[in-house]
Amino acid sequence: MTKKVIALLGSPILDGNTARLLDEAIRGVEEEGVAVEKIEVAHMDVLPCMEFFQCKGSETCLIQDEMQGIFKKFREMDGLIIATPIMTMGIPGRLKSFMDRFQVFYMAKYHRGRSFISPERRRERRMLFISIAGMNIPDVFEGARMTVRAFGEIIDCPLWDEVLRNDMDTIQDITTRPEVMEAAYRKGRELGRLLAAGASSS
Ligand SMILES: Cc1cc2nc3c(=O)[nH]c(=O)nc-3n(C[C@H](O)[C@H](O)[C@H](O)COP(=O)(O)O)c2cc1C
Repeated sequence: MTKKVIALLGSPILDGNTARLLDEAIRGVEEEGVAVEKIEVAHMDVLPCMEFFQCKGSETCLIQDEMQGIFKKFREMDGLIIATPIMTMGIPGRLKSFMDRFQVFYMAKYHRGRSFISPERRRERRMLFISIAGMNIPDVFEGARMTVRAFGEIIDCPLWDEVLRNDMDTIQDITTRPEVMEAAYRKGRELGRLLAAGASSS
């Protein structure tokens, strides 16, 4: 069966620098025969987690919105790409709210002890993290990395590799840095190759 990757765009700018890098990674994945669905998270109409905790005892979330379909897709996907700019030293609020809604997965895995994802599937699933930041300072990606790593554990799609570029306030246009565009493409291609081969991660 064709493998499938979900690609999350955290930037509200659909043709901005983050989007360009994501599109390069998607191109690489698709060249390996893996299907990709892009989700423009900043333009979705979803509520944040309201802590109703319906998900403590059941596989559902009380909030009936687009996330219901998303949960199903995240159970079925083989790989994930998260591409986001840094905002206020972390990930943008909409993307964070999207991730917080995966409390449904958290409760299944850590509260009831039965993840939606089997250990065999987890070994095959992997996440590529792409991020850019305006500032040229150390540790600018640390907050975002901690968040995406935790998210990867909750949904059993562990953080596998990353493409990061800071100093975007100076660079302005990511296409003037072909080595970063190339890195996104190569990592995407590698992700697609590994998923298509059904290889196990460590
Ligand atoms: C609301 C907001 C907050 C930001 N906060 C940070 C920040 O804390 N650190 C940083 O390095 N860059 C910050 N930036 C800069 C973005 O990371 C940078 O402009 C990035 O290139 C935007 O990518 P995009 O055009 O693809 O969305 C911020 C930008 C915005 C709009």
